[in-house]
Amino acid sequence: MPASVTLGAGNVAEFSGSLLAIALSDEPKLSGGLIDLDRSLGGSIQRSIELRDFRGSRDEVFALTGPSGGARRVILIGLGKIVDKPGALRRAAALAARQAMKLGFTDVGFHAGEIDAQEVEAATVGLIVGSWEYKDLKTPPPEAERRASLEKATIITSNTNASRAAVTSGEAIGAGHSLARTLAMMPGNLCTPEFLANTATDIARRHGMKITVLGRKEMEAEGMGALLCVAQGTPQDPKLIALEYNGGKTGDKPVTLVGKGLCFDSGGISIKPALSMEDMKFDMCGAAGVLGAFEAIGRMKLPINVVGLIGSTTNMPSGTAMNPGDVVKSHLGKYIEIINTDAEGRLVLADVLSYARRFNPAVVVDAATLTGAIVIALGHTATGVFSAEESLVTEVIAAGKRAGEPSWSMPLWDDYKDLIKSDIADIKNSGGRPAGSVTAAMFLKEFTDSYPWIHLDIAGTAYSESDLGAMPKGPTGTPTGTFIEFVRGRIT
Ligand code: BES
Ligand code: MN
Ligand code: ZN
Repeated sequence: MPASVTLGAGNVAEFSGSLLAIALSDEPKLSGGLIDLDRSLGGSIQRSIELRDFRGSRDEVFALTGPSGGARRVILIGLGKIVDKPGALRRAAALAARQAMKLGFTDVGFHAGEIDAQEVEAATVGLIVGSWEYKDLKTPPPEAERRASLEKATIITSNTNASRAAVTSGEAIGAGHSLARTLAMMPGNLCTPEFLANTATDIARRHGMKITVLGRKEMEAEGMGALLCVAQGTPQDPKLIALEYNGGKTGDKPVTLVGKGLCFDSGGISIKPALSMEDMKFDMCGAAGVLGAFEAIGRMKLPINVVGLIGSTTNMPSGTAMNPGDVVKSHLGKYIEIINTDAEGRLVLADVLSYARRFNPAVVVDAATLTGAIVIALGHTATGVFSAEESLVTEVIAAGKRAGEPSWSMPLWDDYKDLIKSDIADIKNSGGRPAGSVTAAMFLKEFTDSYPWIHLDIAGTAYSESDLGAMPKGPTGTPTGTFIEFVRGRIT
């Protein structure tokens, strides 16, 4: 359970919980209650700043013993040079929560001076994100050896109506992130297409949303040959999940979020190498982002119409699996030649993007762990953004920035179209290694003619192969925050 967040308006020097985390920039200065706290610590904060033992650089953590009668432990956390204060606070708050968890403390106080509502929201998200963990599959140690879990986080700043509302929205966003990361972390044998559909049904029930789930039969009736050819190698029922949230005016075109939901991607007949294949349980992070965003949108009751679409299955080699050279007819009617069965995400998304037409979308944003090539281009730092409309690229990059999920523009030019020309069909599903993430996006573009569309390749950003300090190894929550901020940015 992630920590619950409250506001504590008192003097930071009077905080008497387990861990007090103080966030300071790279030009650390003590003011207000911090001067009182420093006095009760015999001046040791000021001294560590003067001696440059603490410099306030990003992610720096400096621990002190707390004052008698006060917090048990005090940590100083560096914000670095502040360009984006909410972003810096989100990160520092996540680090504070992680430190509290490592120390086995049940509560943490977070202080960054007097902060505004937007900053309170960011700190709240950080505290929840930092206290997320997935423990369901570890047998708990005996009671006496058990590490307590972080239950309560207090943001020490003035307690106004605006900051209380900011805690509430921060908790909604945090809940979205936690849900997305839990779904992503769950192994493929537990987080199946059916499990994603059940999770979506639960979200719809709790927040009064409409839900439609298509299985194999319904997809056959719809003529979804591209999604179905991926699903034909598995006995599990594939699911196309459609969530409809109507918080806006009737008749207003919905913002539509689409997610790739491959609960496991072995590559199929074009099978992947064994090394790190287990990471392909994360091939549903786009779908997890859609569900996380809907959880947050439902909790916040945003005044806007939003549709969420997920295409979910697994990609398996078997006697019934699709083969390289096969040609399938997509939902839109275009014929696709299968060159590589491991390029399955674009096949699934082709039919979901075609299905999206019936919701008359204002805009469609899809997120997919689509290509290894985007990791080569942008590493694990930025999500690749592809759209023919420059204003949409700007809009999505700005949304990602607000959410602390960096993204960057990639080309989507007709010059690349030749690479996916087929000898036998309308299009082929792989253009080989050159510009691999661009040709994947160009493929998707073929199925998006009737609405403004933007694609996010999150293969490098949805999960991390190492501990990043503020974020442990595993799912990062991306693209949940980008989806939420994009939707919020569309509220008129
Ligand atoms: N799910 C993978 C992409 C991926 C790779 C995600 C690494 C996360 C980390 C996708 O389905 C895939 O296999 N893409 C192929 C496409 C190729 C066969 C054209 C790839 O990137 O190699
Ligand atoms: Mn694949
Ligand atoms: Zn895949």
